[in-house]
Amino acid sequence: MKLIIAYIQPHALNEVKQELYKAEVYKVSITNALGCGQQKGYTEQYRGIEMEVNLLKKVRVEIAVNDNFVKPTVDAIIRGARSGEIGDGKIFILPIEETIRIRTGETGSVAIG
Ligand SMILES: Nc1ncnc2c1ncn2[C@@H]1O[C@H](COP(=O)(O)OP(=O)(O)OP(=O)(O)O)[C@@H](O)[C@H]1O
Ligand SMILES: [Mg+2]
Repeated sequence: MKLIIAYIQPHALNEVKQELYKAEVYKVSITNALGCGQQKGYTEQYRGIEMEVNLLKKVRVEIAVNDNFVKPTVDAIIRGARSGEIGDGKIFILPIEETIRIRTGETGSVAIG
């Protein structure tokens, strides 16, 4: 079991959701996030003063999957989120120790799927 966490551009969310659906990935958690990557944010003028704005709006997508779904899920996120421009996003893949469906007490692969 793996937890896939992706930070994507907010405007890419619809496309990512559609690609995930096509890849038969239906379970997802979405939250708004603020972040910066290797460009360290950007600078803008505020009342004539150069201000550094470090945090840009991103969307955090979290999907817990069984191992055989890692590649299809990652590929779907990339298809939906890649424009080729800086800031397209980043994907992290973490191991999951356990999953528990609260209603039934089911655990592991059964609880994820
Ligand atoms: N190492 C990191 N740790 C935590 N969050 C990160 C990290 N890298 C990127 N992020 C998150 O992902 C978002 C998108 O990152 P971004 O696509 O700008 O990555 P990048 O490494 O700067 O690549 P690029 O050069 O293509 O912009 C960031 O705004 C931040 O929220
Ligand atoms: Mg960046």
